[in-house]
Amino acid sequence: MAIQNVMVIGAGQMGSGIAQVCAQAGFNVKLNDMKQEAFDRGIAAITKNLARNVEKGRLSEEEKTAILGRITPSLDLNDAHDADIVIEAAVENMEIKHTIFKTLDEVAPKHAILASNTSSLPITEIAAATNRPEQVIGMHFMNPVPVMKLVEIIRGLATTDEVYKTVEEMTVKLSKTPVECNDFPGFVSNRILMPMINEAIFTLQDGVASKEAIDDIMRLGMNHPMGPLQLADFIGLDTCLYIMEVLHEGFGDSKYRPSPLLRQYVKAGWLGKKTGRGFYEYS
Ligand code: CAA
Repeated sequence: MAIQNVMVIGAGQMGSGIAQVCAQAGFNVKLNDMKQEAFDRGIAAITKNLARNVEKGRLSEEEKTAILGRITPSLDLNDAHDADIVIEAAVENMEIKHTIFKTLDEVAPKHAILASNTSSLPITEIAAATNRPEQVIGMHFMNPVPVMKLVEIIRGLATTDEVYKTVEEMTVKLSKTPVECNDFPGFVSNRILMPMINEAIFTLQDGVASKEAIDDIMRLGMNHPMGPLQLADFIGLDTCLYIMEVLHEGFGDSKYRPSPLLRQYVKAGWLGKKTGRGFYEYS
């Protein structure tokens, strides 16, 4: 199936990044959110990213205008009526995702693929809210979307090979690298990344080293671009805790228990970069 019209649900950091790379690849994009202000913030972030690319000589002013022209606002899920694919990047809450997917299933064309950018919720369970589970798939982009190469593509229990192939081809058109995996808690990325971050927080909690030392050891010793505590701040400590809870519950294995220090920070509202304070302080 040829994809031309894309709808992205959620104009936050992930949704706006996804809308940007889709529009850059030539797709028509509807960027949906519940509030106009959220859309405006998303478009402002996209405009800033594209302007930096113009400054660096990687994009002309005309190309920037054309890319922005391919993104239209949407405040209504009914706008999915002409979508070939919908990529949902709303909040990580199964009840909300069920409501969104149920509506999308009613309004999107029969051929449309319904994808979720969830970082850890089961694709099969999201698909169960629809009458087209074979056309539901996970498309897990990494943050920051315009920079990171990977899209982890998750097959639900019912996802067909044809749908997988279409999404794989689309991902290549976005200049990203698709990597396939099955629907298990945390998929591959967060099943491996989050326990590492959680262990770094236990290491801090145990007083083994300072936060700076833990990050330096992992950055300089393992060549990671960011230390695990800095990365946790960047992802959001609430998101890290949420994913650990999905792993803990999904596997029923105590090795995934979230660190009490992580819980404490989240309860304090120290959620990382987005709130100005996490393991580090941000001005
Ligand atoms: N949006 C767009 N572009 C961005 C950006 C953003 N938010 N942040 C950085 N960039 C761009 C910069 O503009 C710069 O581009 P140019 O080379 O064209 O100038 C480039 O990225 C490098 O940025 P910097 O030089 O400022 O800084 P850096 O070299 O430290 O790179 C980084 C920044 C790419 C974020 C790097 O630190 C990094 O790779 N960090 C790890 C990111 C990571 O692990 N992401 C996955 C998180 S997990 C996840 O997303 C999944 C989940 O479910 C939780």
